[in-house]
Amino acid sequence: MSLSILTAEEAASFIQHGDRIGFSGFTPAGSPKVVSKALAARAIQEHEAGRPFQIGMFTGASTGDSLDGELARANAVLFRTPYQSNGDMRASLNGGKANYFDLHLSNLAQELRYGFYGKIDVAIIEVADVTESGELLLTSAVGIAPTIARLADKIILERNSKHPKFIAGLHDIYEPADPPRRREIPVYAPEDRIGSPILKVDPSKILGIVETNEADQVGGFEPANDVTLAVGENVANFLVGEMKAGRLPKEFLPIQSGVGNIANAVLGALGSNPDIPPFKMYTEVIQDAVIERMRSGDIVFASGCSLTISPSVLESIYADWDFFKNKLVLRPQEISNNPEVARRLGLITINTALEADIYGNVNSTHVLGSKMMNGIGGSGDFTRNAYLSIFTCPSVAKGGKISAIVPMISHQDHNEHSVKILITENGVADLRGKSPSQRAECIIENCVHPDYKPLMRAYLQHCKGGHTPHEMSLAHAMHVEFAKSGDMRNTKFDV
Ligand code: COA
Repeated sequence: MSLSILTAEEAASFIQHGDRIGFSGFTPAGSPKVVSKALAARAIQEHEAGRPFQIGMFTGASTGDSLDGELARANAVLFRTPYQSNGDMRASLNGGKANYFDLHLSNLAQELRYGFYGKIDVAIIEVADVTESGELLLTSAVGIAPTIARLADKIILERNSKHPKFIAGLHDIYEPADPPRRREIPVYAPEDRIGSPILKVDPSKILGIVETNEADQVGGFEPANDVTLAVGENVANFLVGEMKAGRLPKEFLPIQSGVGNIANAVLGALGSNPDIPPFKMYTEVIQDAVIERMRSGDIVFASGCSLTISPSVLESIYADWDFFKNKLVLRPQEISNNPEVARRLGLITINTALEADIYGNVNSTHVLGSKMMNGIGGSGDFTRNAYLSIFTCPSVAKGGKISAIVPMISHQDHNEHSVKILITENGVADLRGKSPSQRAECIIENCVHPDYKPLMRAYLQHCKGGHTPHEMSLAHAMHVEFAKSGDMRNTKFDV
């Protein structure tokens, strides 16, 4: 049997209104690029003809604009899960056009297997190579590909020639058995391999192959600024202090680091700190800063779920494959983010908060309580199970009009029991072993922006008694003030 070559339009024509589609990839890395565009074009045509055309979307995490952006603009999304970060998709789900449900990223594959979200009609998977017998070589991410490939009725492949075949061995494909038959996941060190370098699928399910050569749509980072540099330095100095105090082993522990500009600056600061030994990463997204730090020898191994790397840096990795091939492994997200493994390896987890409160609760997802930003991503998978969980954020947003630290967060993703350390450009709040009132004092003193310290202290004066003192009529007064005047600094906590 030989696999058919299809155009993107032919592939898209197999998909029907109401189908539930699983997409490969994790972030723009490894996500489909051309069938998705053809699908969006088909949706537009169907809508123009007066027919409904919307699909359900299961992705690894965020994707590129050619998937999330195209489908959102075509109003082709019935529902979507999990994490997304595309502006048009965000507008669509905040505007009630697409039903979005957010999930911890490690949960999705197993919950699909448990049948929580219904069947998968078609899986669209980007590959570097495929054999007639259904052996797939994935590209720059693994995501939920093993599970959707097994569960889907049909499979469409995008064979992307940007990714050379010699990367075989980069991936470690492993799907745990479901309860009650699940055993331990035998990852005892970030570099352990427990599965197969290829993804084996039933070849009779493959509808065909669409050829592409499009790079992952991964953007670059903003250059570090005073705030991100200060946050990075504070994280690095805090961890050095932990080593000196004997609370971290001297050989260090694996790092999980979130995405974005702060995460980039933190990795830079960890790598360049002479008191931090070369370390390993057991993380979700491997980004440009990790690659830079591997070249300088500061990071010796990185296990992740995706190479979310800008196109020129990815090319440089492939050009230097002998150097990188034994330093990287990509796993399915249920393994890269696995709570059991995170706790066993003793991860130092560093994620970004949108907003935190004076008692150490964290909001990672909702702007001013209602608008979805991206999603919880892997932050909950890691934070809850970390050896040491750190949240970082700039102390203010929107030029100082918003304090990232408030009396009571407007939405909760991570609670005070999981958040151990809060770090802003102003300093470090070590919340371990502190009562709520002690935490409030520590956060206000060390993390809150100087403009907002008097306001926080004034708020606390209204809070009379209780284990976690709050005055409910004022707890969201800063949010209310921002909605009214556009500046939280105008809040009045008269006493
Ligand atoms: N209230 C309202 N808006 C806020 C805010 C607050 N407290 N804090 C920040 N913002 C705004 C910023 O002004 C910015 O707005 P803009 O896009 O209009 O400029 C936007 O939110 C993003 O802020 P920024 O500081 O650029 O954030 P970031 O790129 O560092 O991302 C998160 C921060 C929290 C959105 C991002 O890390 C995330 O999605 N995290 C959840 C998932 C996760 O942790 N993944 C990694 C785990 S593996």
